Amino acid sequence: MLKSDYVYIDLLTDSGTGAMSDRQWSAMMMGDESYGGARSFYHMKDTITEITGFEYVIPTHQGRAAENVLFSYLVKPGQVVPGNAHFDTTKGHIESRKAFAIDVTVPEAYDTQLEVPFKGNVSLEKLEKVLKENQGNVPFMVLTVTNNTVGGQPVSMKNIRETCELCHKYGVPVNIDSARFIENAYFIKTREEGYADKTLREICKEMFSYADSMTMSAKKDGLVNMGGFIATNFEGFLTYGGMNGRDMDALAVGLKENIEFEMVETRIKQVHYLAAKLDEYGIPYQRPAGGHAIFVDADKVLTQIPKEEFPAQTLTCELYLEAGIRACEIGYVLADRDPVTRQNRFGGNDFVRLCIPRRVYTNNHMDVIAAALKNVYDRRNEIKRGLEITWEAELMRHFTCQFKRLG
Ligand SMILES: Cc1ncc(COP(=O)(O)O)c(C=O)c1O
Repeated sequence: MLKSDYVYIDLLTDSGTGAMSDRQWSAMMMGDESYGGARSFYHMKDTITEITGFEYVIPTHQGRAAENVLFSYLVKPGQVVPGNAHFDTTKGHIESRKAFAIDVTVPEAYDTQLEVPFKGNVSLEKLEKVLKENQGNVPFMVLTVTNNTVGGQPVSMKNIRETCELCHKYGVPVNIDSARFIENAYFIKTREEGYADKTLREICKEMFSYADSMTMSAKKDGLVNMGGFIATNFEGFLTYGGMNGRDMDALAVGLKENIEFEMVETRIKQVHYLAAKLDEYGIPYQRPAGGHAIFVDADKVLTQIPKEEFPAQTLTCELYLEAGIRACEIGYVLADRDPVTRQNRFGGNDFVRLCIPRRVYTNNHMDVIAAALKNVYDRRNEIKRGLEITWEAELMRHFTCQFKRLG
């Protein structure tokens, strides 16, 4: 509920908070606002087809709108939608339709100190169990790249291929939740055997070739402030969505810029620069550092605060009080309540996400963030109590939750 004017360094999200380039701003001046068949649409559509291979594209005003359009058609009450740690809006769009979002991420993702290269992967065992037990009742599977919820962790090409093959064996289509697909391609190139000599474009093309559709929040790897789309190989979508012509032009340019290796490497290396600073100070986070953010393991910092008092939300507040830095809880508040039992879901990780906007901050800002976090870390034992929720919405409570400080 903070006003942004009261924030010094804003790490709330990397969504729509990047700086657009001079080329993107000039593309906006060329926007074609024709109601039908706009040139801007085809510029965007051709770029998406060139990068992903998907032939049919519908623009939407952001990622959750893409989910809403696709899921309102595909998801029916009582159905089951497996995924590797569904993002909150994705889970919201499934649960609000009285269906069930089942997490099938590999168990390694939940051990923050374990260093494995593809912690965002799908557990094929868990997935097969869900597919087998719910035959005829799984409308599709959601594969999120990178896996935001477990720490911006990548999914390997091998895992993408095997996940899609397994789903197809059971007649289940795969939708890739693609917000950070270019960052995922960067990790495949730099970490997976056989991909070092391939371009990010070749890697992206292969990633999407195994799947059936994608939903995209273009505010991340599309480098725009607002926008999204659905892309598929199934005919049936119209060439008219929720975006201005000029915004579609800016998105086309943004995708072309961000798919350059040097561009995405500069960004990811800044995230890893911050990680190295936290290593120096001994502050625990989800290892190895992922693509768009550092996820501080609050359960390991505020060990004296019980889950019921929300350690990560408490640490997020302490960081703001320390230095005016706004981070985001990706933990027990966000995990929300089980739709059936209405109990808090304490089973996952409890993170403070330090999300780095694209092309906005310098490494000097990273130094300030690390120093502020170190100050909080050094006085962690003085923080005796956490927070109590005084008001929450029934669905997706974390956007508007109100808290009382205890003690
Ligand atoms: C993985 C993932 N999927 C979907 C979304 C939803 O996109 P949007 O914020 O554009 O609605 C986000 C980000 O918010 C995300 O990180």
